[in-house]
Amino acid sequence: MRVLVTGGAGFIGANFVQQTVRERPDAEVTVLDALTYAGDRGSLASVAERVTLVEGSITDVALVDRLVGESDVVVHFAAESHNDNSLDDPSPFVQTNLVGTFTLLEAVRKHGTRFHHISTDEVYGDLELDDPAKFTPETPYNPSSPYSSTKAGSDLLVRAWVRSFGVAATISNCSNNYGPYQHVEKFIPRQITNLIDGLRPRLYGAGLNVRDWIHVEDHNAAVWTIIDKGRIGETYLIGADGERNNLEVVRTLLELFGREPDDFDHVADRPGHDLRYAIDATRLRDELGWAPRYTEFKDGLAATIDWYRANEAWWRPAKAATEAKYARTGQ
Ligand SMILES: NC(=O)c1ccc[n+]([C@@H]2O[C@H](COP(=O)([O-])OP(=O)(O)OC[C@H]3O[C@@H](n4cnc5c(N)ncnc54)[C@H](O)[C@@H]3O)[C@@H](O)[C@H]2O)c1
Repeated sequence: MRVLVTGGAGFIGANFVQQTVRERPDAEVTVLDALTYAGDRGSLASVAERVTLVEGSITDVALVDRLVGESDVVVHFAAESHNDNSLDDPSPFVQTNLVGTFTLLEAVRKHGTRFHHISTDEVYGDLELDDPAKFTPETPYNPSSPYSSTKAGSDLLVRAWVRSFGVAATISNCSNNYGPYQHVEKFIPRQITNLIDGLRPRLYGAGLNVRDWIHVEDHNAAVWTIIDKGRIGETYLIGADGERNNLEVVRTLLELFGREPDDFDHVADRPGHDLRYAIDATRLRDELGWAPRYTEFKDGLAATIDWYRANEAWWRPAKAATEAKYARTGQ
């Protein structure tokens, strides 16, 4: 099977490529990645001999047309993915998340290629902290930020291309991922690398915002399950019942580092910060038989800490610039 992975040098995409190479010896993997600040060739170093990395943008019509024409399935991870950056400058989010997805859809439409679109639970907006509800595939879209609104728009383009043009696509909306190769700008790696440096973790606001954490390998196993067995045109929600507020995450990290539970700093909250996300993954579990393997969050976090300790050369070059950027907004 010839697999084209967009954004395969980013966090989730690189883990997906590594997992695919490990578990699917028959897969021929090509990565299309623009290698923005978030993409790193080094994340694919261990599989370089089995993977073709093409540096380019998903908005490049001719390049996308050629690569899609040479593929059996396209797995679309490429995106501008960081909420804070989208508040600073939304324009690359519109280009990559909307125009890039449109460009891919036109190519898969022309070549009749199977397409899987990776999206986020953030398209649904947020839930109240005391609301027992979870997101389901029927929850109305209500995105809050330039990031989540451009992801919501890209999901709707995929749905329309299925309905109007018969494109063979599926969509998955996943909750917050953690694991190896995540950029140090993101919440968990930022705290882990601060702790490795002997600094205090930094918590947005009171830290009561709830995220539904899933290990990246469980996300990617679900993506392959959907590609193998999912119904065309369907949306699957991916989550592992991992709801925790940010304060609990910081306290667990402090415990794993042997530090005191209050050894952290509060910083200004993100504007429009969503309160709570929670995923109901019943369709994926019941229809397709997927289940997460990382069911103990603390064990998954400990393994992630081990990875960041062992791979300082991977994350160190981005650390100082990332902290300088946060310092400008007092975060
Ligand atoms: N991180 C999460 O917790 C999470 C949760 C749910 C869904 N998602 C979705 O998963 C996907 C991957 O997220 P991630 O956290 O790995 O993001 P990331 O920012 O780590 O990686 C994105 C990758 O896309 C590449 N890219 C950006 N613009 C591009 C362009 N125009 N053309 C080609 N490549 C381009 C970057 O170079 C990078 O390698 C995104 O679609 C995101 O919306 C992420």
